Amino acid sequence: MSYQMPDGAEKYEFVQSRFSAIAQKYDLFNDLITQGFHRHWKNLVVQKTGLAPGDQALDICCGTGDITERLAKAVGSKGKAIGLDFSFGMLEVARSRKGLSKTPLVQGDAMNLPFASETFDALTVGYGLRNLVDLSQGLEEVYRVLKPGGRFVCLDLGKVTLPVVKQVFQFYFFQVVPRIGKILYPKEDMFDYFPQSSVDYPGPESLKKMLEKAGFRQVEYQSYHFGGSVIHRAVKLK
Ligand SMILES: C[S@@+](CC[C@H](N)C(=O)[O-])C[C@H]1O[C@@H](n2cnc3c(N)ncnc32)[C@H](O)[C@@H]1O
Repeated sequence: MSYQMPDGAEKYEFVQSRFSAIAQKYDLFNDLITQGFHRHWKNLVVQKTGLAPGDQALDICCGTGDITERLAKAVGSKGKAIGLDFSFGMLEVARSRKGLSKTPLVQGDAMNLPFASETFDALTVGYGLRNLVDLSQGLEEVYRVLKPGGRFVCLDLGKVTLPVVKQVFQFYFFQVVPRIGKILYPKEDMFDYFPQSSVDYPGPESLKKMLEKAGFRQVEYQSYHFGGSVIHRAVKLK
């Protein structure tokens, strides 16, 4: 039985509505499926931005604000961090976080960012890019709103290539992860979408090339958990 992936406008509406539907338990879901490792990777993301107090930072596809909150700490009260997501439900959870009480959380589309060009010192995204209907357009927008010298750091699933490990990971993502999701939200088909969205998402080398095509330089990436998780860092040169 194969899962039918939504496409184009259908994907946009599916992603927006289904993330709102699972927002209340999304953080718990993330903790369960990564055994808490996503928190460690998100700390690394913020470290890799090189942000300093007083800087301007944007977290796109911010969801419940896990990375946004870390950015807000990094830039301090003299700087500004902003979270952006198109899901009202996810933003509502983000707004309830104490650490985000003074942080602007904007409802908007990552493929058409409502910010002037060259605004941010760093931009982050966690598990967001593979949900975009048009990834190239999203990367062009990221490039546009970064200041010259600005850094883009992206956390997402990678590709496991080691033979036996690959089979274990595939079993975990396609069989175990959807079941964990359905324990939290029975009948929710979002949890079949999750593993499938990682299949269609480019591997680390392909994403590196796409980032370079969008104009980024000094593109590098680190893989974790046998390649199951990847962090890309890219710079918009001065
Ligand atoms: C898997 S969640 C990631 C949440 C958070 N960044 C994290 O790391 O936990 C993906 C988020 O991307 C958002 N998203 C997907 N497509 C988007 C778009 N075109 N514009 C804005 N947000 C989008 C979804 O609403 C969802 O909150």
